[in-house]
Amino acid sequence: MRLRKKHFAIPELEENKKVFLHPEENKGSWGEIFKNNNPIHLELGAGRGGFALRMAEKNPKINFLALDLEANVFVYAGRLIKEADLDNLFGVLARAENLCDYFAKGEVSKIYINFCNPWPKPRQHKRRLTHPRLLEVYKNILKEGSEIEVKTDDDGLYLASLEYFKDSGFEVLEATDDLEEREDSIQTDYEKKWRSQNIKIKYIKAKFIG
Ligand SMILES: C[S@@+](CC[C@H](N)C(=O)[O-])C[C@H]1O[C@@H](n2cnc3c(N)ncnc32)[C@H](O)[C@@H]1O
Repeated sequence: MRLRKKHFAIPELEENKKVFLHPEENKGSWGEIFKNNNPIHLELGAGRGGFALRMAEKNPKINFLALDLEANVFVYAGRLIKEADLDNLFGVLARAENLCDYFAKGEVSKIYINFCNPWPKPRQHKRRLTHPRLLEVYKNILKEGSEIEVKTDDDGLYLASLEYFKDSGFEVLEATDDLEEREDSIQTDYEKKWRSQNIKIKYIKAKFIG
């Protein structure tokens, strides 16, 4: 499905002081942006930003960055983030493929990938946010011992991602094809949608061993 272009999206995001459109300017100095040295957790493909917002509210000692490449969607995340005005949450409009340009080695302590596009055709697999091509990028910005958490509704992506992690030298700490719904867990917009249709949520937690 093609998103209708929203002409207000980029100008609005450019005006939003809580969203970075040139994150390369902060490479190696995100601590100065957050004004502390707390761990930085990064959500890739954050969409409308609800997950990052609730995580930041719940975990004030962790700095959160919600990243997405699609201005037409992320403009709404920008509104949420600006409205909440938390010290530990900013947005980043950028591509996951270029993370090495935005973060120094070891600057990120955790990555969340929630319901990324499954790209089912073999020739599209390399675009998956869990593909080894991307895992190699993440290794350059993650602290040793950091974790990546993945949620998906897609069986093919789940099974392939397990292999991607193992092949790329990550240790799979947890994996399930039917993630239990817990009262205290924070659900993304897509998670709520799939759960309402009784689609099982698949989950992987993998550790970067370095
Ligand atoms: C299916 S949506 C999921 C949104 C949200 N995580 C959720 O669970 O509700 C996937 C999001 O990933 C973003 N995305 C896809 N490829 C990306 C990339 N290479 N870099 C950054 N964001 C990406 C899309 O723009 C889209 O907003």
